[in-house]
Amino acid sequence: MSFYTGWYAERNDIIVDRVVQRLRHNTIIDIAAGSTYLARRLLARPEITRYAWNDLNLSILNGFGENESRFEVWPFDANQPPLMDAWDVVICVSLEHLEHDIRLLEGVKPGAFLALGSPNFMCKGHVRSFKSRREFGARYEAYVNIEEIAELNNGNLRKFVLFGEKKPRGI
Ligand SMILES: C[S@@+](CC[C@H](N)C(=O)[O-])C[C@H]1O[C@@H](n2cnc3c(N)ncnc32)[C@H](O)[C@@H]1O
Repeated sequence: MSFYTGWYAERNDIIVDRVVQRLRHNTIIDIAAGSTYLARRLLARPEITRYAWNDLNLSILNGFGENESRFEVWPFDANQPPLMDAWDVVICVSLEHLEHDIRLLEGVKPGAFLALGSPNFMCKGHVRSFKSRREFGARYEAYVNIEEIAELNNGNLRKFVLFGEKKPRGI
């Protein structure tokens, strides 16, 4: 699996595009990132003042970010996320790996811009899948004012990416 070519890159390029359109937002947390693709692309933008990268597998970093003062590694278990009030943008392309996806969303700052990805297929490590954009949106609409759900197709395999602002907590 390469995050740098094919539909993973295509999906990630859509995320870069939507986040860059919102560059009034300056701090980013990238949860269960799976790669450093988004960090590499987004840190090219000087408007981004802090970038927190999270994954349980730190070997993915392979030295990336060592000399980048805006880059921080936060190796928490995303099923037990911290409160994320410091982050204006929250990216998670691996929601299908997180049993406690809703707990994660509850910790996001109201008004933060969210980019959330999940596929329509199950495989090792996945805890859920969605048949359609509609089904994907239905799971998260109580937490996000959904602006867009993008869809990428590779034969019968699909990836969905939802964009929107986090709703206020506790309503
Ligand atoms: C295999 S990648 C898939 C990435 C993503 N689905 C995509 O399309 O780009 C999933 C990543 O999630 C990470 N991960 C899984 N569970 C996690 C957890 N509880 N906390 C943090 N990272 C986790 C794994 O280490 C892995 O790097």
